[in-house]
Amino acid sequence: MENHLIIEKKGAIGIIAIDRPAKLNALNKEVIDQLSIAFKNLFEDHNIRAIILTGTGEKAFVAGADIAAFSQFTPSQGTALAREGQDQLFHFIEQGPKPVIAAVNGYALGGGLELAMACHIRIASENAQMGLPEVSLGLIPGYGGTQRLPQLIGKGRANELIFSAQMIPATKAQDYGLVNKVVPLDQLMETAESLATKIAQQSPTAIRAAIAAVNAGLDPDKNGYETEIQHFGACFGTPDFIEGTSAFLEKRKAQFKGA
Ligand code: COA
Repeated sequence: MENHLIIEKKGAIGIIAIDRPAKLNALNKEVIDQLSIAFKNLFEDHNIRAIILTGTGEKAFVAGADIAAFSQFTPSQGTALAREGQDQLFHFIEQGPKPVIAAVNGYALGGGLELAMACHIRIASENAQMGLPEVSLGLIPGYGGTQRLPQLIGKGRANELIFSAQMIPATKAQDYGLVNKVVPLDQLMETAESLATKIAQQSPTAIRAAIAAVNAGLDPDKNGYETEIQHFGACFGTPDFIEGTSAFLEKRKAQFKGA
């Protein structure tokens, strides 16, 4: 199987770059499978506390699901594509135990924007363009785009982008709250790494609880406030809580070990 990822570890930061530039890093089954394994490994690596996801090349983060790969699909194959992809990768990232920052270095279209939206935080380069153009192919987004885009930018703006298939530039995506920050392309990775480093210095157990509580508020089957109460209480029983509060009282910097 061809390898489509470049994986690097820099201290407590894991960096995954999707490396299929000839196809603008489009997501086929191999890429999805490899991403899923890469995230699982980094989630399980005790030394890694934050992850950055990006694309190789200067043109694309990910230009979408691979259109050639699904062009002959039947409805049941389409259903399976969306269901398996959501479970295996998109929900897996969003519900994972460690923060994932999407460093959006170019086109993030269709499944590419959906992948960036499944990450916890997005930073974009000035050349990035984002959109969900699936209706131009006679489809709708299938990797969570109809759900996460309205959560991030509101229903009216999401409807406009989805119905019109239009792309928006990075600056507009920032106005909409779709990305947190826009920087020149040559500063994208250092900006993402600087944020990841700040995150890596905090309590990993507390961050894991924060991810679960924030996600619960957006899950109709869960009570977000109750989830927050449960996780808040559980934090008091963790070594990180003892270290964090002791360090504060002793006027030193906390050294968190995680669970
Ligand atoms: N799936 C499969 N292949 C894709 C792809 C996708 N989503 N996006 C780009 N590619 C391929 C192109 O087919 C082309 O391959 P080729 O050189 O073998 O013909 C290569 O990547 C380069 O793309 P190209 O279209 O030549 O680049 P461009 O700069 O002219 O246009 C885009 C860039 C992003 C505007 C254009 O590639 C595009 O519209 N892609 C599809 C976007 C989309 O609809 N995504 C949602 C899919 S659900």
